[in-house]
Amino acid sequence: MARRILLTALCSALAAAQTWTYCNPLNTTCPANPALGGHAEFDFTKESANPKIWNMTAGPMKYGSSAEFTIHERGQSPTIQSNFFIFFGRLEVMMQAAAGTGIISTIVLQSDDLDEVDWEIIGGNRTHVESNFFGKGNTTSYDRAIYHPVDVAPQDGYHNYTVDWTKEKMEWYYDGHLLRTLRYDDPLALWGKTYPQTPMNVRLGIWSAGDESLNKYTIEWAGGLTDWSKLPFTMLIKGINVTDYSTGSEYTYGDHSGSWQSIKIKGGNSTAMTEINKPVGVSGRWNALSSGTRAGIVIGAAAGFVVLIAALLGFCIVQGRAGRKEKAAADAKWEEEQKDLNEYRLKMMKGGFSAEGGKY
Ligand SMILES: *[C@@H]1O[C@H](CO)[C@@H](O)[C@H](O)[C@H]1NC(C)=O
Ligand SMILES: *[C@@H]1O[C@H](CO)[C@@H](O)[C@H](O)[C@H]1NC(C)=O
Ligand SMILES: *[C@@H]1O[C@H](CO)[C@@H](O)[C@H](O)[C@H]1NC(C)=O
Ligand SMILES: *[C@@H]1O[C@H](CO)[C@@H](O)[C@H](O)[C@H]1NC(C)=O
Ligand SMILES: *[C@@H]1O[C@H](CO)[C@@H](O)[C@H](O)[C@H]1NC(C)=O
Ligand SMILES: *[C@@H]1O[C@H](CO)[C@@H](O)[C@H](O)[C@H]1NC(C)=O
Ligand SMILES: *[C@@H]1O[C@H](CO)[C@@H](O)[C@H](O)[C@H]1NC(C)=O
Repeated sequence: MARRILLTALCSALAAAQTWTYCNPLNTTCPANPALGGHAEFDFTKESANPKIWNMTAGPMKYGSSAEFTIHERGQSPTIQSNFFIFFGRLEVMMQAAAGTGIISTIVLQSDDLDEVDWEIIGGNRTHVESNFFGKGNTTSYDRAIYHPVDVAPQDGYHNYTVDWTKEKMEWYYDGHLLRTLRYDDPLALWGKTYPQTPMNVRLGIWSAGDESLNKYTIEWAGGLTDWSKLPFTMLIKGINVTDYSTGSEYTYGDHSGSWQSIKIKGGNSTAMTEINKPVGVSGRWNALSSGTRAGIVIGAAAGFVVLIAALLGFCIVQGRAGRKEKAAADAKWEEEQKDLNEYRLKMMKGGFSAEGGKY
């Protein structure tokens, strides 16, 4: 954790000063969502997640022949979240889900007003993958989760999880097979009212829903208690391709309706696309380094060799204690949100039982 803060602190001198905000646009006026505004490919066989594009939390990440999200000990739930949002679009993820009872591998698209699209892969279930969605945080109905039988276990090798999202319909594909279509006017989406339709960002992570501290319904949903003697649990992501079907630099909620018609698009190039299209710059150079080298730099920094190493690598690191503290505070808030996200899932499962009498 301390190491990660240090690592991100190294780069945050180069990042624009931003403040962490969590704000529900249905209740209040919120800052704009930075757009992706184009097509981006993140190939984790070649590079690590750029910290200027992806926020990471709640556990260490490792890169080798893919991005490794590993739970090494109880309490960890490594997650990455994109700083950019897409306003309709397509997300393709090549993932090998983690094996292990109670362990969930998740691919989530989520908006500020809690529209959400999910893939949830239950570590102990080798025959089904789950798709789900929420509109505006409405959790009062629990019939949206669907379990799809699959031929090849999601824990065996990489599988292609694709979501294609337009204002007319949402499609979930597993290895190119269309598993599910949700239309805007589907009764399940209350004829559009709870159809996901606001700018969403991308979140990928692994967590333990079979933790004995969680309620029994969550644990049942997770397939049983996590067996901590089986540590570590690892989810692998080889790559992510994302297309934003809108172009522009920012998305803003024009009112409190949460309807797609209310979203205002600001033109121009997005910060994310500018970063992605940047010729190998300082951050590119950082990302191009092997994780071993980066770890070395971090350890070096911790040992007080920041200036020396920075000079050697041509980094310009002007990062005071105050900045580092700010970053740590932002990280802490983000971790709080992750906890809430898990709380939210927990509540969802609990409600699922009371509403459906043991559907899961
Ligand atoms: C990601 O981290 C940066 C600081 O490094 C922060 O400004 C930004 O708001 C974070 N994004 C999210 C979605 O939490
Ligand atoms: C936002 O408003 C909704 C009702 O419109 C309410 O249920 C929800 O609790 C409010 N959320 C916050 C964060 O105030
Ligand atoms: C996997 O999920 C399906 C659908 O919910 C369920 O019928 C099956 O029993 C599950 N398998 C295991 C091993 O839990
Ligand atoms: C939430 O969903 C339920 C069932 O799908 C529906 O009856 C209810 O009206 C919805 N609430 C809102 C605020 O949309
Ligand atoms: C993943 O599946 C989608 C949907 O079928 C397809 O368009 C895409 O080409 C696939 N990607 C890879 C890498 O196979
Ligand atoms: C992304 O697209 C490229 C082709 O442009 C393809 O080679 C790669 O496999 C795709 N990756 C994912 C994760 O779908
Ligand atoms: C957007 O980027 C392109 C190429 O990177 C550049 O030519 C153009 O001037 C930029 N537009 C704006 C509004 O900054």
